Amino acid sequence: GECGACAVGVFRQVGPDREKTLRVGVITYTQDDPFINGLTDELKAQLKAMENKERRIIVSIKSGNDDQQEQNEKVEEMIDAGCDVLCINLVDRTAPSRIIRMARNEDIPVIFFNREPVREDLMQWEKLYYVGCDAEQSGIMQGEIAAEYINSHPEVDKNKDGKIQYVLLEGEAGHQDAISRTEYSVKTLMKKDVILEKLSYQLADWNRGQAENRMNRLISQYGKKIELVMSNNDEMALGAVEAIGSRKIVVVGFDATDDAQAAVKAGKMAATVAQKPDLMGATAVETAQKILNGETVDKEIPVEVELITK
Ligand code: BGC
Ligand code: CA
Repeated sequence: GECGACAVGVFRQVGPDREKTLRVGVITYTQDDPFINGLTDELKAQLKAMENKERRIIVSIKSGNDDQQEQNEKVEEMIDAGCDVLCINLVDRTAPSRIIRMARNEDIPVIFFNREPVREDLMQWEKLYYVGCDAEQSGIMQGEIAAEYINSHPEVDKNKDGKIQYVLLEGEAGHQDAISRTEYSVKTLMKKDVILEKLSYQLADWNRGQAENRMNRLISQYGKKIELVMSNNDEMALGAVEAIGSRKIVVVGFDATDDAQAAVKAGKMAATVAQKPDLMGATAVETAQKILNGETVDKEIPVEVELITK
């Protein structure tokens, strides 16, 4: 309608200039996730860097506020306001159908990122793509870096029983990265001859404060027994570090955020794995460019990760 543009306040441009403007709509699952915020900053910067005399680029970033319904409505507003490509970080990675239908009706390609739709959903239409790290490989890398640390630091086995008593902090039920990091980090540790004894797995919603609470409870329950914390991401690892204080417990995270890299340098975390938001942003932008140029692009575009130690 007439006022779609006013509602969002961006995008709609008619007349001869329309061709010269690329309008990109980015919608995240929440506005409270530091990793995602870093990623969207990169995305925006990389898109802006593509701007030139011939082409203006307008980026609009919104959040679904942890509610799939709300995210769907924001997508609809962006489409109404006029939009050439959508970058979507789904709230519920298993529920992209409505967004797919709306985008398809207007022939707007969708690049999903970080929260991966299942293969069948990606196959619903040819202009659907996914940019993110390879979840399984990421879990393997995290297990490798943890094993390397443990195998070269015998003191990690505090009670010298030949086993590593561990707790694991999980991001979110159903998230491909949480599932694979949990499964493959543990499998890889075992493959690298670390004998593990599981004490507890706790969900902490990728969140630092929640992880600190969980970890405080685990410490009061298991005390000195805990030798290792495997965390699905750095924010939760840093929450654990907070709870651990001066106790001797090894913490391994994921993302290599600035805070986590500082904690690794300070010896508060053993290691992390870099999930590179800059490269992810660049990959998404490159993908968008190719799609809009009519080039053929793979539906799933993995972005590499990298081990980080002191
Ligand atoms: C990151 C987490 C982030 C989550 C959000 C994961 O890939 O490692 O830090 O909270 O994505 O979807
Ligand atoms: Ca032990």
